[in-house]
Amino acid sequence: MGSAVSIDGALVDPGAASIPVLDRGFLYGDSAFEVTRTYGGQPFALGLHLQRLRHSCAQLEIPIDVDDATLRREVREVLDAAGNEEAYVRVVVTRGVTALGLSLEGEVRSRRVMVAAPLKRHDPKLWEEGGALATVAISRSLDGTSAAGVKASNYLPNILSLAAANRRGAYEAISVAGGGELLEGSTSNLFLVHGGEVSTPPLSVGILGGITRRLVIEAAAEDGVTIRERLLFPPDLYRADEAFITSSTREVVPMVRADGVPLGDGRPGPMTRRLHAAFRRRADALLAEERV
Ligand code: PDD
Repeated sequence: MGSAVSIDGALVDPGAASIPVLDRGFLYGDSAFEVTRTYGGQPFALGLHLQRLRHSCAQLEIPIDVDDATLRREVREVLDAAGNEEAYVRVVVTRGVTALGLSLEGEVRSRRVMVAAPLKRHDPKLWEEGGALATVAISRSLDGTSAAGVKASNYLPNILSLAAANRRGAYEAISVAGGGELLEGSTSNLFLVHGGEVSTPPLSVGILGGITRRLVIEAAAEDGVTIRERLLFPPDLYRADEAFITSSTREVVPMVRADGVPLGDGRPGPMTRRLHAAFRRRADALLAEERV
């Protein structure tokens, strides 16, 4: 079990792996990234993650100099080098070193960094008992720009909102926009259940188009449940019968309190369990498709 890192396709000692301090990813968070995990050693939904990475880079005007086959091979190499039973995989594309200053003019040679590490095992109690949410009003650096909602590496608003939520005893922060609408978690998307109806904020509010979010919506439809994308506000959260968050590394996680208010009976509910099971079936089907 261990970690492995490659930079521009070359495996490097993870303890010594480094990029120049003048790299814009370091200076400004000027980079895009993806996170996925493996199931049975196979990186999950890699096609969807690479598609989203290309979308993020296109919106951020960061060139990616290699094709998907190369990216896939580099992911495989870093996974093999790390040698974990199940792994966390991070793919970063940074704009690289340019002349000092913010300008995008001049030559840009982006840099790829792949990281594989042992998959963190979360406490199963989180699924059995559920977690707590805290709402946090924030504005995010890309809000209102053409790159709103892309997976850019600057996570300071997310880091600070999670810290604020943790200080209030919550597991995850739900960001609230200036207009009062609920957005997403610091590293997750949000779903609410009211009387059997499931809803989630629309992508148009500038949230990340989570791959787990998308697969949960598809899996729900296959299971006969329609998930509505609609604006949600804190009172919708407090009166929810159930709530859950989604992310690549944690799948579907029940949330049973919000700002101290118990949701429903304060325990993980049947719709959350049903949609988690539906997601698992959808994930198994996708893994089988990706193997061929
Ligand atoms: N983050 N929203 C934000 C802000 C996120 O950072 C993430 C995931 C999600 C869920 O997206 P997905 O289902 O594609 O993982 C939503 C990853 C897991 C991370 O930062 O570790």
